Amino acid sequence: MEKKWWQKEVIYQIYPKSFYDSNNDGIGDIKGITQKLDYLQSLGITMVWICPIYKSPMADNGYDISDYYQLNPEFGEMSDLDELIEKAKVKGIKVVLDLVINHTSDEHPWFQDLLQNPNTSQYRDYYILKTGENGQPPTNWRSVFGGSVWEPLPNTDEYYFHSFDVKQPDLNWENKEVREELYKMVNYWLEKGIAGFRVDAITFIKKDQNYDNLRPDGVDGLVKCTKKARNQPGIEEFLHELNDETFSKYNCVTIGEAPGVPYEQYGDYIGDNGYFSMIFDFRYADLDVASGSEWFRRIDWNVLDLKKLIFTSQKEIQKAGWGANFLENHDQNRSISKYIKEEENRNFYSATMLGAMFFFLRGTPFIYQGQEIGMTNFERKNIEEFDDISSIDQYYRSMKEGFSEEEALHFINLRSRDNSRTPFHWNNKQFGGFSEVKPWLGMNENYTTINVEQQKQDPNSILQFYKEMIQVRQSSEASECLIYGEIEPILEDHPTIVAYKRKYRNEEVVCYFNFSSEDQKVELEHSNFNVLLNNYETLSEQISSLKPYQALILQKKEAGYNE
Ligand code: GLC
Ligand code: CA
Repeated sequence: MEKKWWQKEVIYQIYPKSFYDSNNDGIGDIKGITQKLDYLQSLGITMVWICPIYKSPMADNGYDISDYYQLNPEFGEMSDLDELIEKAKVKGIKVVLDLVINHTSDEHPWFQDLLQNPNTSQYRDYYILKTGENGQPPTNWRSVFGGSVWEPLPNTDEYYFHSFDVKQPDLNWENKEVREELYKMVNYWLEKGIAGFRVDAITFIKKDQNYDNLRPDGVDGLVKCTKKARNQPGIEEFLHELNDETFSKYNCVTIGEAPGVPYEQYGDYIGDNGYFSMIFDFRYADLDVASGSEWFRRIDWNVLDLKKLIFTSQKEIQKAGWGANFLENHDQNRSISKYIKEEENRNFYSATMLGAMFFFLRGTPFIYQGQEIGMTNFERKNIEEFDDISSIDQYYRSMKEGFSEEEALHFINLRSRDNSRTPFHWNNKQFGGFSEVKPWLGMNENYTTINVEQQKQDPNSILQFYKEMIQVRQSSEASECLIYGEIEPILEDHPTIVAYKRKYRNEEVVCYFNFSSEDQKVELEHSNFNVLLNNYETLSEQISSLKPYQALILQKKEAGYNE
């Protein structure tokens, strides 16, 4: 694969509402990001992806846009964003924004016009409208956030389609005018000097045009809409056109949120002429839920299951192109709470082991805010404490499926998107130094012990380890190998050790990760090596086993070469 500039980036994901509140209204903002640029620079990251900051009623925290060309006042003004882009650039940090083009908010002027003039609006064809049959919605498809995908269009016998919430009507991509409006907007932002986009829910833009019913898969009599409204044949035309009209004209990076794409099609998405620079593969992030969107259908898993998912993903992506690696994001719970099952094992070692295991995979690594200090899930005692619309839906739906209220609360506590959306822990002062007033979302009390200020001072902290990890990938003698090298899994049948090699020309780096709370014997690939990274202070001569949750990154020394 030809080298691309975005392969060597390390991307930090910012959830702006919870990063830093510069004006003390309880809500994080753009100025808050600008004020923390020194911190981001000291971490060593090279690019930030900022979740949506556009004008929005915030039903889905910005993934419901009411004006693509304006910012939400609670985040700041356009001049604040210009300032951020400029100052970040000086510090060697690029800015990527979120692009939400499958749907708008129902408060977008296009949809508002449709509501005002349902029969005559020039925007009728901007959305997906269908008439119901016998008082029933047009199909029995369930939206991602629960309930029918169809919502009655007031004062008509028609319904409008929404893949997600009722406040997020899907745009009609079959309409060329809609597509052209979107391309114009995409180019406007690229002209502004952003480095590219993370592209939201993009596999939903094409719907099966037959609009027929399927067999229900839940007690609500509905069936997941993904079978008919995600990655449908014909989507390739839209995605090629989007790329031709926008991205390809700029040397930008695009990261597709593309769930539901079978591996056989990865080449179309991320190959040489793919639609995107890279895409996220969610298969291993969702290994504890039987289905991608229903948290109450839980399954147990072991390290072998996890390994299999990760390595299959890595091999398939290596065949096709380039991947975007992540442990956490704003839709996932915290990784240490998810991947380390016993609470007593959630510590410095397991957090750094997990971090390194994913960080040195082949692909561009993403770090989600707070992951670098080991922020954890936050257990809520009452449904009232939740903000995330999908948690609230899953709570009620699991009770309809027959689970008790307690069970329902337990499921959503484990998986709620609010787990990772809590305000960032800057220090041990009230509200974790995020704001001086009560933040918009309840926060974890463990900010008194898990916070940036404390970890900055501790040379053996998770934060310090993340910095070293980034340094090793970006600017060590093994950088080229760790960035561009091929990946090859080893010890594939070992029940608790995850291990792989990265190979580039005649260089080789071997990475070992012990997922168990006990020592594990291991026979190393090479007897002659440099230790690039180790979360324990073992001496290299002593390595014949891995300590609990040890991470070890070893660079092979050339044969016959001695220090
Ligand atoms: C994506 C976003 C998620 C949002 C959804 C609808 O999955 O990551 O946060 O709710 O799209 O826009
Ligand atoms: Ca604020």
